[in-house]
Amino acid sequence: MSIEINDVFRSFGHVLAVAGMSATVPAGTVTGLVGPNGAGKSTLLLMLAGLLCPDSGEIRIADLDPVAQPREVHRTVGWMPDAFGTWDSLTCLEILETFADAQGLDRAAGRRRCNEMLSTVHLSEMTHAPARVLSRGQKQRLGLARALLHQPKVLLLDEPAAGMDPRSRADLRVLLKDLASEGVTILISSHILSELEQMIDGAVFMAHGKAVHPPEVPVNSGDGPVSRLTGHVQRQWSMRALDPVALATWATDPQIGGQPAQDGTVVLRADDDTQAASLLRGAIEAGVEVVSFTPAMGLLEETYLMMEVERR
Ligand SMILES: Nc1ncnc2c1ncn2[C@@H]1O[C@H](COP(=O)(O)OP(=O)(O)OP(=O)(O)O)[C@@H](O)[C@H]1O
Ligand SMILES: [Mg+2]
Repeated sequence: MSIEINDVFRSFGHVLAVAGMSATVPAGTVTGLVGPNGAGKSTLLLMLAGLLCPDSGEIRIADLDPVAQPREVHRTVGWMPDAFGTWDSLTCLEILETFADAQGLDRAAGRRRCNEMLSTVHLSEMTHAPARVLSRGQKQRLGLARALLHQPKVLLLDEPAAGMDPRSRADLRVLLKDLASEGVTILISSHILSELEQMIDGAVFMAHGKAVHPPEVPVNSGDGPVSRLTGHVQRQWSMRALDPVALATWATDPQIGGQPAQDGTVVLRADDDTQAASLLRGAIEAGVEVVSFTPAMGLLEETYLMMEVERR
């Protein structure tokens, strides 16, 4: 049930939106699709969903070819666009029933499933409300319910959390993890990297229409599953101490190379966890009363920013 993308191209007039993209999304995982505005993420997702034809290259979704087998792909894939367009005069239930019908679910089973999905996305109280009264986040949640209606084996989500409130985002994280553990393959684009990092098993980075790869992974890098896929980056660590002046004096020694921040903390760079531990030991041995010492940003964000620098 994996996704295979091999040398895919797609232009719009003179704009080359996807330019030789290749990637593999392993089955039963949540994989992040990360890249700057205009990188070609939405264009790629549309092609994976069988809604846009590539100019060239090969795509396999759960062993299906979206160009040759669009119908089968629509049955297999759940698609959530970055903005879910609704028919404003229809109610939430009517909208979902229209899609259930298109998926070939029979009426009774379709209605049951629609109500179940409205409850999953906490929109039960809006069942009979016309879609025009939905807020942006509620519309997104209706889009998620639509994507899940036919129990897809592959889920493609384009910035699903945009506009959702904190509770809905937390629910989304749990839902996606549960689905992946049941074997659903999930590809999700997002710009909120700290949040994405909490729900993904790996990441595909995209810039200028194709995949970009982080540097080689050292064998013993810590930090859990994301580090295995993001590679090795020099990380920034933030240190706080009871006495900011004593901290700054120790940290700005050229041997340490720390940079004081305006809030009294100090930013230090470490190649790996061993070096971070040694910095902490050094601070304590120098008499600095350390209160906290943590990575300044998530690993995914740091990897992304480093690759952005390399790209320029
Ligand atoms: N229908 C279209 N017609 C013309 N150009 C398009 C069309 N869709 C996308 N493009 C162009 O293709 C490029 C890639 O766009 P795409 O929407 O795939 O990027 P993205 O990675 O999803 O960006 P974002 O992070 O802003 O959502 C952009 O330069 C965009 O202007
Ligand atoms: Mg997009």
